[in-house]
Amino acid sequence: MDKLLIEGGSRLSGEVAVSGAKNAALPILCAALLTAEPVTFTNVPQLKDIGTLLALLAQMGVKVAREGDSVTLDASGLDNPVAPYEMVKTMRASILVLGPLVARCGEAKVSLPGGCAIGARPVDQHIKGLQAMGADVRVEHGYVHANVPRLKGARLFTDMVTVTGTENLMMAAALADGETVIENAAREPEIVDLANCLVAMGARVSGAGSDVIRIRGVDRLHGATHRIMPDRIETGTYLCAAAATGGSVRLTGTSSSYLDAVIDKLMDAGCEVVSERDAIRLSAPERLNAVSLRTAPYPAFPTDMQAQFMAINCVAQGVAMIRETIFENRFMHAVELQRLGADIRIDGNTAVVQGVERLQGATVMATDLRASASLVVAGLVAEGETVIERIYHLDRGYERLEAKLAALGARVRRLG
Ligand code: UD1
Repeated sequence: MDKLLIEGGSRLSGEVAVSGAKNAALPILCAALLTAEPVTFTNVPQLKDIGTLLALLAQMGVKVAREGDSVTLDASGLDNPVAPYEMVKTMRASILVLGPLVARCGEAKVSLPGGCAIGARPVDQHIKGLQAMGADVRVEHGYVHANVPRLKGARLFTDMVTVTGTENLMMAAALADGETVIENAAREPEIVDLANCLVAMGARVSGAGSDVIRIRGVDRLHGATHRIMPDRIETGTYLCAAAATGGSVRLTGTSSSYLDAVIDKLMDAGCEVVSERDAIRLSAPERLNAVSLRTAPYPAFPTDMQAQFMAINCVAQGVAMIRETIFENRFMHAVELQRLGADIRIDGNTAVVQGVERLQGATVMATDLRASASLVVAGLVAEGETVIERIYHLDRGYERLEAKLAALGARVRRLG
């Protein structure tokens, strides 16, 4: 199993290009299920999760053509609206096929994703929304079975803000009969990207980016071309890596406009951040100040950046309080960071991080995608060698991680 060897101590400097967003690409690729015409997507990142989703779509009868960062999907031959457990269990976002399949085929059988390391993560809100749109939804033998001749527009209210839940219901509503209103909708930029793609395919969507989204259903959608937005979490991760090492970097192909909460914290930590049209520059001081934060749905501080900020706080000046409000078990990186010499105390959903002068390299284990990213950030500042085990988690969400870090001057190598 692959490991990552990092020799800490290099200041990151230079320029690197950010890839397309994983969390935008996953729902947007599923949107191709909604039409019998080919849809072409560009800026699709080369990631394990994307490969998993394309394999899932292919076994449903979707023709997949991939060339570089471009993917064309042709769902004219869609004949198997089933997502088997074996494929869903490796990636929870597979649940995103549910809404489009019911809308287009009138039926779907999608495995329940089950728990995952960071929390229970149920899909009850996805199911509740489809039921409100008239679908007969049963959960049997670990599968969600949904049937309906045609979904009907409805007023939907989700009990909590859910990103993939909002996306699933938007896609379902695009082909429903009549108007759907999603209240308490997630406002993440990836929702707006999905709405833009749906509109390019002929859907009538308004309000994406606010907490009320209106979708007027149409009889059919058509082919389109859509460019996936930049990955704001990859962007934030490289900004943290540079900040922790006292570095100075320029990230291209990305924008600060989706990252206000993160950039604000980096500036509080003492970094200088300059936004350009399609790039961000950051220069960090010798040592950062500790920054406290609380995760919450967009536009507040993203839970997907919490672990990386815990890593930078480990070596900052002062004490930081980190509160995680989205997932109940998202501090697994803390024990691994402690192995590197970090001073972290956990009390429920709060972590108190007392910055130390230096971390020391050790062998640590990646437990989930963003936890792994925090170990990379910590490894870059630790003295000596850090070996990160189970880096398949990183391959799910970071394209060419070692190459990009090496381009910024990091000493990092994959061990087979
Ligand atoms: C998405 C992101 C993930 C990010 C998360 C929160 C994708 C592919 N993944 O995950 O990277 O960390 O948003 O920003 O975009 N919940 C329920 N019932 C439901 C749905 C959600 O109880 O039916 C709960 C979850 O357990 C969690 C909270 O709602 O506590 C938010 O989860 P949600 O926004 O749905 O996360 P995902 O969409 O799975």
